[in-house]
Amino acid sequence: MKKLAVLSVFAAAVALAVPAGAQSPIVIKFSHVVAPDTPKGKASLKFKELAEKYTNGKATIEVYPNSQLYKDKEELEALQLGAVQMLAPSNSKFGPIGVKQYEVFDLPFVLPDTKALRRVTDGPLGKKFLKLVESKGMVGLAFWDNGFKEFSANKPLRTPDDFKGLKFRIQSSKILEAQMRALGAIPQVMAFSEVYQALQTGVVDGQENTPSNMYTQKMHEVQKYTTVSDHGYIGYVVVANKKFWDGLPADIRGQLEKAMAEATAYGNGIAGKENADALEEMKKSGKTQIVTLTAAEKAGLKKAMQPVYDDAAARVGKDVLDEFEKTVAGTATN
Ligand code: LMR
Repeated sequence: MKKLAVLSVFAAAVALAVPAGAQSPIVIKFSHVVAPDTPKGKASLKFKELAEKYTNGKATIEVYPNSQLYKDKEELEALQLGAVQMLAPSNSKFGPIGVKQYEVFDLPFVLPDTKALRRVTDGPLGKKFLKLVESKGMVGLAFWDNGFKEFSANKPLRTPDDFKGLKFRIQSSKILEAQMRALGAIPQVMAFSEVYQALQTGVVDGQENTPSNMYTQKMHEVQKYTTVSDHGYIGYVVVANKKFWDGLPADIRGQLEKAMAEATAYGNGIAGKENADALEEMKKSGKTQIVTLTAAEKAGLKKAMQPVYDDAAARVGKDVLDEFEKTVAGTATN
């Protein structure tokens, strides 16, 4: 009798948790490599909040920051295999998986400002770029901002001569490799999660990244100088596993798209300030000295990096490069 009562309580509890006819909840694992307190970290948490609200809890978004699940290269493989459902890798990370066109984003000084960037991401070219990832089993959902990159090292970097012979960590990108070689430096490809230790132990001498990434990884604590060069851009492509995404019930997919549009507006709205604040915090810490370039010094670095453009057309396609540059300049005809 007692046993029966226990069983029926158990059955009632099960019935409460899983009402008859209910579908099991949709769980979306969203993996990324940066800290929660960054533009990407905050945008992904905003997406979680809105997605769970709009789907009325039918979808649960599990956000895994700081390379907790996967490092740079592995996270793309994990998405393709369906071990995670969503990611937001940097543009640079699509070249190595065969979407070479994305390498154009790595060209030094290719994007003069956020306005020019928006002309790319929010226009027809952005749509084309999002479509490109479909051949890799992914759906491109949005472009998320981080910001412009600075250089750091244990010496002030003002002229190409200052870079000579130094080892710099870069993301896995042929364009970034060419950029460092053009400066006379030695590029070293390394996962993001390993950069702090590599700088600390002297495995590499310097690196390039946005202030928000540098500050949250404490890179400024192990680099005596940070040069505000703004010589390149880091932004993200939010992608989902295509099979998973296409298989979602249409209403849920629509709610997730709405959440994504709003999270994108939020994240891209705060990214500029996040980076400015991070640079300010780095300055205040007194651990890294901020080097401000004169116009002539900046022009000198830009000139030294110009050869990178020579073989870029061959890598990414001349048509892609032309369309990108025209879109940036606001002279594209489509
Ligand atoms: C890097 O590897 O430096 C960046 O792509 C990290 C990131 O996701 O911002």
